[in-house]
Amino acid sequence: MATSTPGTSGDTVLIIGAGGQLGLELTHELRQRYGASNVVAADVRAPKDAETHEAGPFELLDVLDKNRLTEVVQQYKPKQVYHLAALLSATAEKNPKFGWQLNMDGLFNVLDAAVDLGVQQVYWPSSIAVFGPDTPRENTPQLTIMNPNTIYGISKLAGEQWCEWYFRKHGLDVRSLRYPGLIGYKSLPGGGTTDYAVDIYHKAVAGQPYECFLKEDTYLPMMYMPDALKATLDLMHAPADSIKIRSSYNLGAMSFSPKEITASIQRHLPEFEVTYKPDSRQQIADSWPASIDDTRARQDWGWQPDFDLDKMTDDMLLHLKQQVAETAAVAR
Ligand code: SER
Repeated sequence: MATSTPGTSGDTVLIIGAGGQLGLELTHELRQRYGASNVVAADVRAPKDAETHEAGPFELLDVLDKNRLTEVVQQYKPKQVYHLAALLSATAEKNPKFGWQLNMDGLFNVLDAAVDLGVQQVYWPSSIAVFGPDTPRENTPQLTIMNPNTIYGISKLAGEQWCEWYFRKHGLDVRSLRYPGLIGYKSLPGGGTTDYAVDIYHKAVAGQPYECFLKEDTYLPMMYMPDALKATLDLMHAPADSIKIRSSYNLGAMSFSPKEITASIQRHLPEFEVTYKPDSRQQIADSWPASIDDTRARQDWGWQPDFDLDKMTDDMLLHLKQQVAETAAVAR
């Protein structure tokens, strides 16, 4: 069990899935905090952005390849591993066997490598997808009926139980959060049901209309990326004995519908238009909570979000407009 706080004193940190939506931002944040050379980014393919790929160590790693994982862990001897590689909800429904394999075997490989090779702490993300259509939708409690009905949700719920088991049986300091939909301007999500809430900002800034794949009144729990990074790092730095939940913590920030995010954007861009054409992702969204009770995270390690919908919109639009202006300046 960890007695010090890994990652704060020149210790090495390994991020698996560093090219993904969360991985990219977490890599940047951790490199700023711990120094670029202490943060090893790993992904199944080389990320396009130079900051992840070139600013510090990068390793090509398929988390399903146990030997390669062992090699990377033996080479860098990380104190902390953030294991973020997964297939998200919509993609896993299309490719269920591979979704299950990647999400479960990838986790086993990381947990086993951590136990066998002396990694002190593991972070593994869970999701609101662990809940299902029988779960109370409003203010969904930490402990309640689960019954997820997507492959992604089933794999996350099983993974939570495995994390808790590794903690009990092996004393592995594994920590986890049930993220809501994550929204950021630096990176795009891939294959999730909450992706609309990122795509919509890109269309708005491009001056184009947006066709939304969920109905206008579909409420889902959401979170702005700076809050997600804060929650993740606060959780990882909290004293081990304050972490009372070793499956995964409910985590909330805001809840809104496509209609409400549209109105929030229209405060800045009144001409912005959205139409609705629900697809198979509507069914997934309907099976998930509308809002989350995260009392335990607040009590146990002091969780407190900073961003609500309008504050997030103001920041997203500001940064995306800057990105567009920078791209145009480079093209000139
Ligand atoms: N954002 C994820 C998804 O939509 C949920 O964790 O799949």
